Amino acid sequence: MFRSLYDYNFFGKKVLVRCDFNVPVYKGKVLDDFKIIKALSTIKYLRESGAKIILASHIAQEGRWQKASLRPVVPVLEGILNEKVLFCPKSIGSKPKRMIDKMGLGKILVLENLRINKGEERNDEKFAKELAALAEIYVGEAFGCCHRKHSSIVITPKLLPHFIGFECEREANVLSSLIENPQRPLVVLIGGAKVESKLKMIARFLPMADYLLFGGKIANILLAIQKIIVGGPKPSQETKDLLLRIDLTNPKINLPLDVLASFSEEGIRQIAPGSVRKEEEILDIGQATIEKFSEIIKIAKTIFWSGNLGLVEDSNFRNGSLSIARAIIKNEKALKIAGGGDTVAFIRAEGLEKGFSYLSSGGSALLEFIAKGTLPGIEALKI
Ligand code: 3PG
Repeated sequence: MFRSLYDYNFFGKKVLVRCDFNVPVYKGKVLDDFKIIKALSTIKYLRESGAKIILASHIAQEGRWQKASLRPVVPVLEGILNEKVLFCPKSIGSKPKRMIDKMGLGKILVLENLRINKGEERNDEKFAKELAALAEIYVGEAFGCCHRKHSSIVITPKLLPHFIGFECEREANVLSSLIENPQRPLVVLIGGAKVESKLKMIARFLPMADYLLFGGKIANILLAIQKIIVGGPKPSQETKDLLLRIDLTNPKINLPLDVLASFSEEGIRQIAPGSVRKEEEILDIGQATIEKFSEIIKIAKTIFWSGNLGLVEDSNFRNGSLSIARAIIKNEKALKIAGGGDTVAFIRAEGLEKGFSYLSSGGSALLEFIAKGTLPGIEALKI
């Protein structure tokens, strides 16, 4: 059971909110604010409650030599919230403590990248305590990081009265109802890379879903393992072991009927997977596959989509994912959930966000939640 934000009076309290602000940054500018937007309902609620809001997160390296900082998140928050947001270049110690003591009620402070401190990833208790020392309350609003057994995710919440953030709770609820009690037919579309984690998801969905549709690299692996395509990606030992647990002859599994294959000098060929030559690479699903998948999507009551179906970064290979996204949106009656960083980025780039019932912020966290039904960081928020 979680304690909801509505169950407490936050007035005057120092509240540490663990967010997932691991956003793409280029030359100091945030390229995609999706994850920041996800934390807004919690931030605004705490602001209106008169709390002192301390936002903590990690962020990945910008480039090989660039020290990763959360500073670029500050102007984005300021722009959305229309107010000054403070930034502390340290995430623990006397500097943030002084700033927090001085800040006004309803004000917001962003701490520097938690992972600059080695203790965060080592799940170090000392670091967790130092972070907890800054606040009186902990709020977990970082669904996308809840698969990590890191200090701020699994230890700090245990050191303070802890609450689940609005969006984190919503995401856990949406995904739990997807895996526990979906309206049928349940159609699951899986594409993209991250083959090993996707295979765990397939093992979980195979008994539960009514149809599983595949595109992207994961489909190529499944085609290669069944010797339908020659060459293609070489599955790792882990992939082979995972595949032993999956009955690929199950009629629920739908692999591409045709694909777009390309070898630099030869142009693009739309062919059956069995006709792909060793030197060619499969980069999208073909028209017959789009039509077949769209027919299945049409009858679904629940649709879950994770992973692009082609190399969407190249305009020649966007059509599969775009056509399928449109087919999903066309099914007005179904509950439509999509997740994974690249899939969500694609949906948003195409301006199709409103056509989906829910976009998950999780990448690996989403896959692990589906495979296991919970996450360490979600368990840590329970009371
Ligand atoms: C994500 O982007 O999936 C989350 O922020 C987790 O990031 P991580 O893989 O660096 O832990």
